[in-house]
Amino acid sequence: MIVVLVVASGAAWESPALTLLGGHRDIVVLKRCVDVDDLLASASAGQADVAVLGLDTPGLDVAAVDHLRRYDVRPVAVVPAEAWEGGRVRASRIGIATLVPDDGLDTLPDAVLGADEPAPPMLPEPADAGAPPGPGGRVLAVWGPAGAPGRTTVAAGLAAELARRRRRTILVDADPYGGSVAQQLGILDEVSGLLSAARLATSGLLAERLASVQRAVGPHLSVVTGLPRADRWVEVRAGTVEALLEVARERGDVVIDTGFSLEDEPGQDYGTRPGRNQLTRGALEAADEVLVVGTADPVGLSRLARALVEVREHTGGAAVRVVVNRMRPSLGWSEKDIAGMVGGFTRLSGLHFLPDDRSAVDRALVTGRTLVESGDSPLLRAVSSLADAIVV
Ligand SMILES: Nc1ncnc2c1ncn2[C@@H]1O[C@H](COP(=O)(O)OP(=O)(O)O)[C@@H](O)[C@H]1O
Ligand SMILES: [Mg+2]
Repeated sequence: MIVVLVVASGAAWESPALTLLGGHRDIVVLKRCVDVDDLLASASAGQADVAVLGLDTPGLDVAAVDHLRRYDVRPVAVVPAEAWEGGRVRASRIGIATLVPDDGLDTLPDAVLGADEPAPPMLPEPADAGAPPGPGGRVLAVWGPAGAPGRTTVAAGLAAELARRRRRTILVDADPYGGSVAQQLGILDEVSGLLSAARLATSGLLAERLASVQRAVGPHLSVVTGLPRADRWVEVRAGTVEALLEVARERGDVVIDTGFSLEDEPGQDYGTRPGRNQLTRGALEAADEVLVVGTADPVGLSRLARALVEVREHTGGAAVRVVVNRMRPSLGWSEKDIAGMVGGFTRLSGLHFLPDDRSAVDRALVTGRTLVESGDSPLLRAVSSLADAIVV
């Protein structure tokens, strides 16, 4: 049972939040506090596990959040959806990692149950033998050959664009050679979503605690961050990515950023030992669509051609789209020329071109924002038409 304190200082979300929390069988609301002082005093009593608080409650600062943590009370902040971006920045400054938008309160109980919990102990076998799949979303795997063609840029941009269309979207960083989604999006959090997911999958708790492996980065977008260091792929047990995709797709669309290599590692046994490239292969096998990203220069295009032959062996009949990234006039190729070059290698569901747009990419990178949040640009418009093709 999770014991909760609430301080809403009269905000409109208080009453629906109390109804939702009060109606959950694993949650009990201990007290509605009148202000932050009341909250801190109640936390000191040592009975509460979680504090649900309005991010703009007067007096809520780093010291207050520290006080909560000293008494093992995890903060969960409710943030006005229309001031989400500012709220996210402020929350991370005062040390609150779990946020819920005030127009998405239905996720509050999950956030309360999952709020940055330490990893559970390892248990033997998964307990939940397959809940019936809901209507759910689609799994879009973003893959591409070696040479940094822009997989992460495309995955993050596409996920942000789907979320802008109010589709619930989860961006998963599954690159076994080290994650970069967290850095790209300015998520400072040290906890790796993928490693937490790996531990939860082993103990069969992933479906129940999916909320705890995600970080919200917008009202409709959340991220499962990747490996903090490349060598930590060994902690990702076989079957993790498959389990993660299975539960995540029930919640919405899933965009998964992958590695480049599909090679089979020699000497791998499929019991519980992880295989490094199994993360990428698992993502491609589970995908409804695979987006193969290549760059528009000569080296990139020849790698792309080989990649298109290779990808067929690893998809379970998924649609394959090609995204030719970093198109620029100085290369002297038209889209038609490139269509002729890549079209022969495999049957494609679509061929898309994204412009080389250093200024849009840099603007997003230096502010730790998504392409969508950093304003109009040629690249964003091209990502948007890619999304048009995918969601029809
Ligand atoms: N369309 C683009 N225009 C300009 N720079 C880009 C574009 N796409 C990617 N980049 C840059 O190329 C580099 C590699 O991109 P990244 O998405 O990290 O590749 P990958 O995930 O395939 O390794 C990054 O510096 C990124 O900012
Ligand atoms: Mg990458």
